[in-house]
Amino acid sequence: MNPFSLENKTVLVTGASSGIGRTVAIECSKMGATVVLTARNEERLQQTLSQLEGDGHAIIVADLTDKNDRLRLVEQSPKLDGLVHCAGIVKTLMFQFVDAESLSEVMNVNFASPTLLSALLVENKKIAKNSSIVFISSVSGVVCVWGGNSMYSASKGAVNGMMKNMALDLASKGIRVNSVNPAMVETSIFEGGLIGAEQIEEDKKRYPLKRYGKPEEVAYAVIYLLSDAAKWITGSSLVIDGGYTLL
Ligand SMILES: NC(=O)c1ccc[n+]([C@@H]2O[C@H](COP(=O)([O-])OP(=O)(O)OC[C@H]3O[C@@H](n4cnc5c(N)ncnc54)[C@H](OP(=O)(O)O)[C@@H]3O)[C@@H](O)[C@H]2O)c1
Repeated sequence: MNPFSLENKTVLVTGASSGIGRTVAIECSKMGATVVLTARNEERLQQTLSQLEGDGHAIIVADLTDKNDRLRLVEQSPKLDGLVHCAGIVKTLMFQFVDAESLSEVMNVNFASPTLLSALLVENKKIAKNSSIVFISSVSGVVCVWGGNSMYSASKGAVNGMMKNMALDLASKGIRVNSVNPAMVETSIFEGGLIGAEQIEEDKKRYPLKRYGKPEEVAYAVIYLLSDAAKWITGSSLVIDGGYTLL
């Protein structure tokens, strides 16, 4: 018996069309899970699907900020043993330029949508007993901050607060809730942002382990929290940062 196995578990992964979400989906399938992939871009979801191991996986296209899409996702979703919230966006703006529209967009995608989706899934009994919900939060807004990142930090701080309260409220249903909090991971999320390639190389040197993380390294932590190996862990946040926040 392998306590880290995800065999006989069905896991819904949001943000599965790219980056961390795509890798989480692929790695979960390798550990034996049946995976339900969701995001807005169907073509990129199909690309993820083609990389999964095993059979029985599914795609449900949805914009998580849209209430009707969330309702349809819950309706179409099978009973879940795991839910991984990977969908997220970054908007970099120095604090004095923060405006209502940007703030609402970041809070909506990163905080309100995963919260409301979780609530709807629980209310509709789509989350099985002894299941696990994992949020991909960040060290930003929880342990440290980066300049120009106030809206993102606020959204991730909110995710961590919500995660702890969900863990308490859902414990009686046997549902565990945790977060994984990475520092910089090599995905396209920061493409087109304010940081140039040279600055990125300089930034990597500030990490004790001298590099950014890889999506797989986040996925392995998610697999642990989804698996029975973590069945006494709830309300925890796991920092994955190459030692960045030690300094
Ligand atoms: N990369 C990092 O350095 C890093 C560090 C710490 C935490 N994180 C967190 O990790 C998570 C994944 O980030 P990533 O780097 O993998 O980013 P990414 O490659 O840009 O992926 C973001 C995902 O979110 C989905 N998404 C965005 N808006 C959505 C919406 N309205 N409805 C449904 N899906 C939506 C996108 O899919 P569609 O466009 O197809 O909808 C995409 O699959 C985020 O929560 C991010 O904050 C990332």
